[in-house]
Amino acid sequence: MKKTLINLFFLSLLFFFILPTKQNPITRFQEYLQINTAQPNPNYSESTKFLISLSKSLNLESQIIEFVKGKPIILLKWVGKNPKLSSILLNSHTDVVAAEHHKWNYPPFKAHIDESGDIYARGSQDMKCVGLQYLEAIRELKSSGFEPIRTVYVSFVPDEEIGGHDGAEKFAASDEFEKLNVGIVLDEGLASPNENYRLFYAERCPWWLVIKATGAPGHGSKLYDNSAMENLLKSIESVRRFRASQFDLVKAGLKAQGEVISVNMAFLKAGTPSPTGFVMNLQPSEAEAGFDIRVPPTADPKSLEKRIAEEWAPSSRNMTFEVWMQVEDANPFHLTHTHTHTYWPHESWCDTVMVICTTFCTKLIFWSLKERIVTLMTKVYARHKNIA
Ligand SMILES: *[C@@H]1O[C@H](CO)[C@@H](O)[C@H](O)[C@H]1NC(C)=O
Ligand SMILES: *[C@@H]1O[C@H](CO)[C@@H](O)[C@H](O)[C@H]1NC(C)=O
Ligand SMILES: [Zn+2]
Repeated sequence: MKKTLINLFFLSLLFFFILPTKQNPITRFQEYLQINTAQPNPNYSESTKFLISLSKSLNLESQIIEFVKGKPIILLKWVGKNPKLSSILLNSHTDVVAAEHHKWNYPPFKAHIDESGDIYARGSQDMKCVGLQYLEAIRELKSSGFEPIRTVYVSFVPDEEIGGHDGAEKFAASDEFEKLNVGIVLDEGLASPNENYRLFYAERCPWWLVIKATGAPGHGSKLYDNSAMENLLKSIESVRRFRASQFDLVKAGLKAQGEVISVNMAFLKAGTPSPTGFVMNLQPSEAEAGFDIRVPPTADPKSLEKRIAEEWAPSSRNMTFEVWMQVEDANPFHLTHTHTHTYWPHESWCDTVMVICTTFCTKLIFWSLKERIVTLMTKVYARHKNIA
């Protein structure tokens, strides 16, 4: 009896010392955060080593693709029961933005956990938590015996914080990517300060519009029609009316912010400079204005183009315009907005994606570390001064 008690005592001691150092989602998350992948000198060789070792522990096929030397894309593959169907791609970036070490309560690459369970680290929300949640969700699903219908790919891309030119950009344009036959991509969203995992869809597409007016210059004392300023002001008025009509829909509760076209004036450029400011008695011959427009996928881009050409910058008013769109029409992905859309051909899309999404949140909650993990992975940043 006594012996058993002593054994039990030792056994519990053993657990006490062994458990905290055992690999679990938290320690794996910390390990990822401790790798300094801050721009401008991210240590990609270390993050690659780490991710490949996790991939091995999950029995996933892995591949390292370098379109540019030293900028690895880590691509993991979980083969589905029907690999002929288009696949699901879970993307995240491995790099993080730089940290001002002296402004942090704890060193940004220590991944310190405080008494309340919060982890402090650069990249904890943007976006190493997401990358790790993909893998932990897969770990959980695999151990529960789940087999996906579609093949699931997980990509870890470099250099997102500096534009992604040597990472996602080259990847998306590559034959390798084409071969994946991707049907849907889940990517970065906004971190959640509570235990709800928020899904974002219908990302609005930026259109940056610059309209330019020209007109006869003239003396500041003269009244005449069609000066550049007058012509531009007519346009600005028209843009403002449109803006108000969209905003009214939001104010009336008929539409959400993300469902209307937002327009905000970003700059005004006009006037003839003088040594002390601007020449005050001259009506200039040119004037321009820039607008940041955000277009939801439910909006009709053609009718907006028509509005710009006919109302906001009509050539009949001697106006010209340039519009810069972030996503071309050729890219179908910016159009996926609801599951009724053609790019969500049938419900099984949503089903598989939802299994993965709910695994992120609910399965994580019910784990061995239970409620804490979601708190850890989502609350992490809320208290830093200087967050990712
Ligand atoms: C990356 O990290 C590894 C492991 O800590 C280290 O040996 C190596 O020197 C680091 N590379 C750079 C470029 O800092
Ligand atoms: C456009 O420019 C032409 C040539 O400068 C001018 O004759 C005409 O009045 C202008 N029209 C308007 C609407 O500004
Ligand atoms: Zn990010």
